[in-house]
Amino acid sequence: TKRIILKDKDHPDIEQLREPAKILREGGLVAFPTETVYGLGANALNEEAAKKIYEAKGRPSDNPLIAHIADFDDLLPLVTEVPEAGRKLMEAFWPGPLTLIFPKSGLVPYGTTGGLDTVAVRMPADPAASALIRLAGVPIAAPSANTSGRPSPTTADHVWQDMNGKIQMIVDGGAVGIGVESTIIDVSGDEPMILRPGAVTQEMASAVLGKEIFLDPAITSGPLKADVRPKAPGMKYKHYAPKADLTLVEGKEETVAAAINKLVQEKVEAGYRVGVICTDETLNLYPQGMRRSIGSRLQEESIAHNLYAVLREFDDLNADCIFSESFSRNHLGQAIMNRLTKAAGYHIIQV
Ligand code: TXA
Ligand code: MG
Repeated sequence: TKRIILKDKDHPDIEQLREPAKILREGGLVAFPTETVYGLGANALNEEAAKKIYEAKGRPSDNPLIAHIADFDDLLPLVTEVPEAGRKLMEAFWPGPLTLIFPKSGLVPYGTTGGLDTVAVRMPADPAASALIRLAGVPIAAPSANTSGRPSPTTADHVWQDMNGKIQMIVDGGAVGIGVESTIIDVSGDEPMILRPGAVTQEMASAVLGKEIFLDPAITSGPLKADVRPKAPGMKYKHYAPKADLTLVEGKEETVAAAINKLVQEKVEAGYRVGVICTDETLNLYPQGMRRSIGSRLQEESIAHNLYAVLREFDDLNADCIFSESFSRNHLGQAIMNRLTKAAGYHIIQV
């Protein structure tokens, strides 16, 4: 796997991007940065290329891919219709961390959509992603560039750990900005619905639509029951799973720290390698265990930004169990808690 380091990721040098664009156009795999997480790109209109993505990730092939575009004109060939809600959301949030689900056109192969008659489309804001897609000249299917079941990659090193030897190239643009995957909103049905929370929050989308938009009940109801099918097929898989057993502890700050310290003490005495996920504000409250701050409570963005890197770090440290503080479920906190509760297999202790 070849790795190219972008000289200036905010003003990408087109010469540097010619080779990855050519690989993509010709059906190969290239990982590249976006503002949310690193993507594993392939030509979205080439079913064979899509197949290679599933192989490299070890991902079930009924899990559909997002087609990434660079310009508004690139949308129309992929869809049969742009519903009113979709138009409003695009105008407000594209380019940016929002994926919209539309009825698909005949141009998009079922190999890309996992057999669905809808297609997920996103226009990333990252200048390197945008330039690369434009140069490739085709929509780029790109799931997160992690091995299926591992935390999404937020640096090129994370991608390297999972994909070295499995793909042609990694475009290294340093650490991403947001750190959690895009918000997914389905606008193909009668009522728009959030299928995955992200940096375009429920509050932001509701404000643009002029009425409240809701989350797919399947993703808020805790562990999935056999009869509940989330509309985004990817949400049903065990995702973002750290190797260690992760437990979230929810309650008032002082109570949480006391409860976590007690749990850590028990596990340490039993001989386990124990991790603690806390914040800049609470780091000093934990005398034992491998403590990592996930960011500042005063800045939710920092928590989203560090979340997957912290989970991967505990994998590298071979932690057996991790106890984590919890966060509010408003605004960006909804996406943060969605990822954390899934990583914890819905194991939450209320104190
Ligand atoms: O931020 C992101 O969206 C990143 C970057 C690389 O753009 N990509 C990403 O892709 O997170 P992935 O494949 O890891 O997640 C895509 C999600 C999956 O849960 C999938 O099931 C859902 O989108 N999805 C894709 N197409 C869909 C469709 N037609 N209907 C419903 N859900 C769909
Ligand atoms: Mg993913």
